[in-house]
Amino acid sequence: MTGNPKPIPRSLLIFGASGRIGGSAASHIRQVSPQTRLRLATSSEKKAQRLQAQFPGCEVVVANYLDVTTLIPAFKDMEGIFIVTPDFLDERQAMFNVVAAARHAATLLHMVRLTGDPPGVHSEESVPLHLREFDGGTAVQHLRARKLLDSSGLPVTYINIAAYYMADFLKLFGIGLASKHTLFVPYDRIMAFLDSRDVGEVAACLLLSSNQRHLGKTYQLDNGVDLMRFCDVARLMSEVLGVPIAYNDSPEDFMRECAAMPAYQQRQDGLRYALRYYEWEREAETLWRRSDILEALTGHKGRTLRQWLEEHRDRLLGTSLPVTPVASLSK
Ligand SMILES: NC(=O)c1ccc[n+]([C@@H]2O[C@H](COP(=O)([O-])OP(=O)(O)OC[C@H]3O[C@@H](n4cnc5c(N)ncnc54)[C@H](OP(=O)(O)O)[C@@H]3O)[C@@H](O)[C@H]2O)c1
Repeated sequence: MTGNPKPIPRSLLIFGASGRIGGSAASHIRQVSPQTRLRLATSSEKKAQRLQAQFPGCEVVVANYLDVTTLIPAFKDMEGIFIVTPDFLDERQAMFNVVAAARHAATLLHMVRLTGDPPGVHSEESVPLHLREFDGGTAVQHLRARKLLDSSGLPVTYINIAAYYMADFLKLFGIGLASKHTLFVPYDRIMAFLDSRDVGEVAACLLLSSNQRHLGKTYQLDNGVDLMRFCDVARLMSEVLGVPIAYNDSPEDFMRECAAMPAYQQRQDGLRYALRYYEWEREAETLWRRSDILEALTGHKGRTLRQWLEEHRDRLLGTSLPVTPVASLSK
């Protein structure tokens, strides 16, 4: 490596630490760099206690992207920050507050920001009008966040999830697995898949890296292995779960299955948005890739969908699937 190395942050603020991605980032940092001062953020008072029990010895703070008065103390003295946001967040307000808090702290060396845009989508203008009209959903929110962060001049690395999280099969895409042994995912299309634990680990590795060339870069993340149609996912599920899993890609049947579930009954608008989003993704299906980026950033291969299905077999075939709030409908 030539040029000045990036100073490795001695203190890290991790948002979403109570969730799968931020939690995995925090665990990895604890494991490989126990000397790093770790401050874990949650926006929920309720989750703060659980988080403290999960990470004894770490500082836990309640901080909300939409309330700058909670961000200012959270950012104080922090040299590295990981930002992950939920679907349908008002990113303009949130990132405006994040930039203000980072400037106020004046200690930031590196921010890692997670985004979720289909590969090749770089501006709101390339998002179909009917998705833009919804105003603020997953199709535009990351682009808005990026615009603000880019213009702030802060040292940011973007990790763009060019895939679906495997955990989606325990949420919206799991609605018919246990009860009907059917995978309901509208608009069959090619997709890449990622284990969210690997995403957290990528964020941790970037923050702990001394390579200044990560600054200003966008990494398109996939697990390097799984790139397939959902009908092939159903085939893989049949093999690994040991029961035949049918595949149904009808949007009408998907909506009907969702309407039958109490968790989604009030969320018809969100589901209609999701359907349009899936249709848009089908148009972009030639752009999803498998690459070696995860191994390059973490030093190990990504967890595969087969491994994940084996690990989660009982939950996938169990009777009670956790429900997904509308704010985090799978994309
Ligand atoms: N599902 C997919 O397949 C997929 C694919 C590509 C990209 N993505 C993107 O991946 C990202 C993460 O998805 P996810 O399902 O893991 O999201 P999530 O769990 O709904 O939200 C991520 C984290 O944000 C924190 N959070 C929520 N509201 C907050 C607030 N107001 N202030 C501060 N922190 C807040 C939550 O922790 P607390 O509740 O503890 O605050 C949570 O752990 C999303 O941006 C999504 O668009 C998803």
